Amino acid sequence: MPVGTRGRARDAEQDVAKPQIGSLLTDETFGLVRRLVVDHGRSHWKGYAFAFLCMALIAATTALAAWLMRDVIDRVFLEKSKSAIFALSGAVVAIYVVKGAATFGQQVTLSRIANAIVASVQSKIFDHLLKLNLGFFSERHTSEFVARQSYIATSCGAVLNIIVTSFGRDLLTVVGLVVVMVVQNPTMSLVAFLVMPGAVLGVQKLVRRAKTIMRAGFHEGMVVVEITQETVQGMKVVKAFGLEDLQRARMAETIERVRRAADKFAMVGARTAPLMETLGGVAVAGVILYGGWRVVAAGETPGVFMSFITALLLAYDPAKRLARVHVDLAGNLVGVQMMYDFLAQPAPEADDDTAPALKVEAGRIVFDDVAFAYRPDEPVLRGLSLVAEAGSTTALVGRSGGGKSTVLSLLLRFWEPTSGRIAVDGVEIRDVSRRSLRAAIAYVGQDVFLFKGTVAENIAFGRPGATRAEIEAAAKAAHAHDFVTAFPDGYDTEVGENGTQLSGGQRQRLAIARAILKDAPILLLDEATAALDTESERAIQQALDHLSRGRTTLVIAHRLQTIEAADAICVIEEGRVAERGTHAELLAMGGRYAALHSAHFG
Ligand SMILES: Nc1ncnc2c1ncn2[C@@H]1O[C@H](COP(=O)(O)OP(=O)(O)OP(=O)(O)O)[C@@H](O)[C@H]1O
Ligand SMILES: [Mg+2]
Repeated sequence: MPVGTRGRARDAEQDVAKPQIGSLLTDETFGLVRRLVVDHGRSHWKGYAFAFLCMALIAATTALAAWLMRDVIDRVFLEKSKSAIFALSGAVVAIYVVKGAATFGQQVTLSRIANAIVASVQSKIFDHLLKLNLGFFSERHTSEFVARQSYIATSCGAVLNIIVTSFGRDLLTVVGLVVVMVVQNPTMSLVAFLVMPGAVLGVQKLVRRAKTIMRAGFHEGMVVVEITQETVQGMKVVKAFGLEDLQRARMAETIERVRRAADKFAMVGARTAPLMETLGGVAVAGVILYGGWRVVAAGETPGVFMSFITALLLAYDPAKRLARVHVDLAGNLVGVQMMYDFLAQPAPEADDDTAPALKVEAGRIVFDDVAFAYRPDEPVLRGLSLVAEAGSTTALVGRSGGGKSTVLSLLLRFWEPTSGRIAVDGVEIRDVSRRSLRAAIAYVGQDVFLFKGTVAENIAFGRPGATRAEIEAAAKAAHAHDFVTAFPDGYDTEVGENGTQLSGGQRQRLAIARAILKDAPILLLDEATAALDTESERAIQQALDHLSRGRTTLVIAHRLQTIEAADAICVIEEGRVAERGTHAELLAMGGRYAALHSAHFG
């Protein structure tokens, strides 16, 4: 329902696109991560297990290196044992070789998993995109999807790896080193650990702020993409109207906001540093005080002290990373949240292939009392009834903005009517599958769209799998063959983004060729010849007349001479069919059509 869609889209817009200050609390964070693990992490458990094993090795070798310090000091420096020198240096080399190999294994495995997650998230999002209806897209800027897709995918890939490395490598390393410390000297450990609670509390506070800033930064970043895209697409308008300064100013403002958000995020992220450095210093100082006193006053060997202080210093970096894992996670979780918000968008065009397929026999189209509005309280169609007889041509005329294109959109089920029914051969189109309905219709829209690719590829979208001979035959019928073969590359000529390397009339003829190739029983032509000169128009008109023979054709034209031969002409006014008849009948009637006609031809 268009009215409902609009309302929903508004709400969704707020969910998805606007920063929600402090909306992601720890519980939600947990829920998000759990969801991500279930949806994307679970299938990679073998890889994660292997990475974990590597990380356990990293932790163990790090702890072992610290442990060895006691022997280095006591056996080498105090006992002056020569054999210990060789044994210990050999052991250290072995330890670091193992650590290097384990680090390699962990990094490669985790990167691969992240890449796989990015790939699967990307296809999932794109798949969902295809299931949304036009109402969703007509309210959004195209760049939003581009920016969001890449941001979401990388965030999802990063989140699980951040978690795995912090809990795998960093936490295990810290635990291993703590074990070394506790075993070497429990009392000294107590001194070092007294500072821990302070660190945890300090970091916790930063998280919420980080999330808010990330969100704001992302949305400003999206505006940068939006302005760039619009400026590039509208470069002709920008240049012709001298809008460079205006665009530059718009952009400068946004870029400045992005920069400020990035600065703020850097600030929040780095704010853990002074806290951690100070606390680290306090811990080390405490150990030096207590350990030094034990060596000096109680005659303990310095080996324990050295081993302990090494472990403490080695634990410092992973502990610091652990302390800010929250902040790093927060930024990426914004992307994960966006993904789930997007996937939660209702998918009105989800597969309905289970619905019966439309079988077009004659192709009689009936609109019965159809009402429709894009926006609530702005009805476009108000009880429109019209019949397009099977195999004949019905033309729609009327003033601009009167709802002619909307009639075709409703028949294609781009939108659903608010009330009334639309039927083909007596079967309501909302009861059949969208795919079968659209397969029965060849459509040339008011705005021609060409995909990046060659001329031949663009025509072939009419019927994927068509042979080159069929494509050329369609092009000939659309009077496109001559201009296409005049290009040096012929049918392999690249058309450029949305066919910018072709003229308007050439684009239109490719769109007609596409429709001809589709060879469907119902033909919808929305001002199909509007961009053509009189001569090509006449030629294409002949081709279309030929094409529409035996097909139910609905044609919209502003140039009234192109529809004079139509079997029936419907004048659309006030969202209804105001007049219906043949050209001659309507002229004789002297009503609205006659008025339009005389205005048209002077
Ligand atoms: N996606 C949309 N969202 C909101 N309103 C829309 C949308 N598309 C069209 N409209 C509005 O619906 C009305 C009918 O539009 P429609 O395109 O059907 O007119 P038309 O008769 O084909 O006009 P033209 O002859 O200029 O092509 C217009 O007032 C237009 O502003
Ligand atoms: Mg129109």
